[in-house]
Amino acid sequence: MKTLLMLFLLFGCSSISIVAQKFDKLALTPPMGWNSWNKFGCDVNEGLIKETADAMVASGMKDAGYQYIVIDDCWHGARDNLGFIQPDATRFPSGMKALADYVHAKGLKFGIYSDAGSKTCGGHPGSRGHEYQDALSYARWGVDYLKYDWCNTEGLSAQGAYTTMRDALFATGRPIVFSLCEWGNNKPWEWGKTVGHLWRTTGDIFNCFDCIKDHGTWKAWGVLQILDMQKDLRQHAGADHWNDPDMMEVGNGMSENEDRAHFSLWAMLAAPLIAGNDLRKMSGQTREILTNKEVIAVNQDQLGIQGFKYASRENVEIWVKPLYGGDWAVCFLNRGTTSQKIEMDWSAEPIKDDLSKQELNARSTPYQIRDLWKDKRSTTKEPYEVIVPAHDVVLLRLSASKSRG
Ligand code: GLA
Repeated sequence: MKTLLMLFLLFGCSSISIVAQKFDKLALTPPMGWNSWNKFGCDVNEGLIKETADAMVASGMKDAGYQYIVIDDCWHGARDNLGFIQPDATRFPSGMKALADYVHAKGLKFGIYSDAGSKTCGGHPGSRGHEYQDALSYARWGVDYLKYDWCNTEGLSAQGAYTTMRDALFATGRPIVFSLCEWGNNKPWEWGKTVGHLWRTTGDIFNCFDCIKDHGTWKAWGVLQILDMQKDLRQHAGADHWNDPDMMEVGNGMSENEDRAHFSLWAMLAAPLIAGNDLRKMSGQTREILTNKEVIAVNQDQLGIQGFKYASRENVEIWVKPLYGGDWAVCFLNRGTTSQKIEMDWSAEPIKDDLSKQELNARSTPYQIRDLWKDKRSTTKEPYEVIVPAHDVVLLRLSASKSRG
């Protein structure tokens, strides 16, 4: 009897233990998609989501690499008498499975939003105490991406709560990208790598380049403010686990220069590229920014190294990002409100990245230079000089290989 008990403890228990982990390799490069929140807030319904999926294909965004259509807060109805969450029947009369099918039929992926607390930030049912049940519903509906927020979480440990949802998602057997939206409060970059595929590093962005909006109990941040908060985080990011400086505001009211700078910076940061504008009505300018394939290639580069600020010269910051094959992206950001000239003598100024051990050394390797917004070429053999307009960038790709320049 004793032996039987021993055998059961040894083999019986181990055979039923579940290995919980995150689904690996779902985000080897930063996720690209669209999310409803920045433009539409709580005003979401199935018509909007279907039209957005249509527009993502028709606008060329899908071809440029955008994949996920994510419904943020406020899609929820109530829980049924077994506790299963239902979508709001007025806004989503066909149900989430039908909507996911629609999105999938376009060759896109479908994402949804919940919250680790009792209620979402918009006051809808959160997943606290319903994690496994909600994960099961998402899997049944065909969800591919979950953004998981952090409102109304009093008394919860962030790492614990996000790990519970990670395990619940894993238990469904459906690969679902897990986006941690806890605003950087509990340093998710220190523990998020094994929990999710991306984690917010800051509070919410809003559509202003250089501003802070005070909501009393919380603040929303402009593009530059969010950029500054990325300092010292790059060593935590890499393939399948990205720092997320929040969704984009391109096309939501900033100037064209500011939108271009915002998009370029998110590319330099290896940030998830989640558009937040109305794809059905975007201007040609907005579309050109969001679909610039060479800028997207900087973001999606297979080395997966987040860029960093190399130097500041008056109002211009020089950001650099090592790329696969010895290439580099170099971004001159003008934070000021007047244009500024910048000069760069490449061979006099080798740039070393201690993290990736890459070196931009134009003295030993001449690079071809390509201006990714202006389609202009030059080489590092001559000193470089350019005027960077106010609140704008000049973004270059330096190619070590001559054939690619
Ligand atoms: C929080 C998140 C936002 C958005 C809203 C929805 O503020 O940070 O991105 O999801 O909640 O209520």
